[in-house]
Amino acid sequence: MCGIVGYVGPRESQPILMSGLARLEYRGYDSAGIAVIDGEGSLGMRKRAGKLARLSESLDEAPLGAGTTGIGHTRWATHGGPTDGNAHPHLADDDKLALIHNGIIENFSELKAELLEQGFAFRSDTDTEVAAVLLGREYRAHEGDLEAAFRAVARRLDGAFTLLAMHEDHPGLVVGARRNSPLVIGLGEGENFLGSDVAAFVEHTRHALAIGQDEIVSIRPDSVRVTDFDGNVVEPQSFEVSWDAAAADKGGWSSFMAKEVSEEPEAVANTVMGRIHDGAIVIPELEGLDELFTGIDRITILACGTAYYSSLVGKYAIEQWARIPVDVELAHEFRYRDPIITERTLVVSVSQSGETMDTLMAVKEAARLGAKTLSICNTQGATIPRESDAVVYTHAGPEVAVASTKAFVAQITALYLLALHVGRLRGTLAPSIADEAIEQLETMPGKIQWILDNEQERIEQLAHWMADTRSVLFLGRHVGYPIALEGALKLKEISYIHAEGFAAGELKHGPIALIEPGQPVFVLVPSPRGAATMHAKVISNIEEIRARGARIIAIAEEGDAAVLPHADEVLRIPLASPLFEPLLAVVPLHIFAMGLATAKGLDVDQPRNLAKSVTVE
Ligand code: F6R
Repeated sequence: MCGIVGYVGPRESQPILMSGLARLEYRGYDSAGIAVIDGEGSLGMRKRAGKLARLSESLDEAPLGAGTTGIGHTRWATHGGPTDGNAHPHLADDDKLALIHNGIIENFSELKAELLEQGFAFRSDTDTEVAAVLLGREYRAHEGDLEAAFRAVARRLDGAFTLLAMHEDHPGLVVGARRNSPLVIGLGEGENFLGSDVAAFVEHTRHALAIGQDEIVSIRPDSVRVTDFDGNVVEPQSFEVSWDAAAADKGGWSSFMAKEVSEEPEAVANTVMGRIHDGAIVIPELEGLDELFTGIDRITILACGTAYYSSLVGKYAIEQWARIPVDVELAHEFRYRDPIITERTLVVSVSQSGETMDTLMAVKEAARLGAKTLSICNTQGATIPRESDAVVYTHAGPEVAVASTKAFVAQITALYLLALHVGRLRGTLAPSIADEAIEQLETMPGKIQWILDNEQERIEQLAHWMADTRSVLFLGRHVGYPIALEGALKLKEISYIHAEGFAAGELKHGPIALIEPGQPVFVLVPSPRGAATMHAKVISNIEEIRARGARIIAIAEEGDAAVLPHADEVLRIPLASPLFEPLLAVVPLHIFAMGLATAKGLDVDQPRNLAKSVTVE
């Protein structure tokens, strides 16, 4: 949440900050602002409530003075509503100092009281302004040493924060600090960048440095210095960004979501790529780490939202192939219930961003309790993989739309690779089953592409007809159940329609009372070949609700003629073994949610109240 960018170098900073913010806008779009130290050495600032376009218009009408040092921010409001005044940057030290922030400063009330008592004034309702005013005070106390002032401030703050600041007295210097909130450095030629993630600067450089927990960074055009909060110099870890700026552009697509759904085949293919050798799964990142999997008696998977649903799918595969019990937990519930975790537990976190605060905190708690930790993550240099013993990256490429789509299929793919890897290590996986699973995995990209080529138009048409629908239900069994949950989440998230997913067998235990004539229900129908009993049961579940007037939209495999008399619409997916059906069945649901939101004229990339990368608890 909140996007942060900083620049120092020879170029004019305003266009660099604005294009960085455009790439970070998915992190928050309540308000935006920039500050620049101009050629005369004075600090100019502009901020506006609303999307970045409003700030852009304002800068077009009345430009700030040109300057080569700047910071920019796009906000997802926490403390204080989305107003011009609450937008960042916040100024202090007679408006000579500008500061931006991502996260929540938990002890802000106490600090504010202290500062008010000392006669400092405030102009906003935010926790951030407290950090700005405190930094102004410490700057004076440390005789104009911005780094020393930053260290003093960082030590006083509780909670999660990334802070960037600059001061008129120091053109060519931006200082940043981070605790539990993301910040990465981009290394240029005679210029340097800071960003919440690499998207902030990837169009200028792909050389990056990850900043560790509780560290402070100072960037100047020709140097980067990282220290801990006590001022000891630390060596940041470098990495190359594996994608280029074009990968995070919309290309010719109407939305990022449309582009990302179209990339689902690639997301699966790239996640598998390089991990199958001579017909066996080899995950290079896990080489030499067998003890992570052999000395354990349980796996706990921690995740939130869509990643939680992919994890639920992963549970079926891990239990089936590796014969080890798997619990899947919402990360924000895990921490607060005194979980039973031992050194024989492997805790796997699943996160697209690698920054979700709930997941990060749960992973830290698990590590504290002695668990081994493994992260499945889509973002290089992110915090969760850095806090884990091992990482398996999904290679979905940058995901910009707030609603997660291609990352979801990539997460299932990575979990399946992991399940096969653990099954082999533990000796629970028959070679013939492994061979079949690998073959299935390799055919998935082509099959997803088949859905996009053959069914997308029809699904969008259906979504268009259903634009006035007020409620949609989703039913699935076995691995179809998490897919029903994912279908419902995606629909409510971007089209603001009431939607719920249920295990098909659960309906008669209560939710069937919701069914009234005309109620649309998507039903994930298992393969009649691979799962004949479940197929029959799901058909019975369909009949139970059809008898009460439900309108059935079935997602069923090609050639399943038995479903036809029981459904009003049948959306087809290619044939696959039961465990692999989720990778296919979810695609029509992603297309449907996107189609319906589009038909309602909504912004599918930036749905209301949400932001990607939830870095607050
Ligand atoms: C839904 C969605 C969210 C995220 C959740 C976890 O479309 O995007 O539910 O899945 O906030 O995010 P990550 O995977 O970044 O930890």
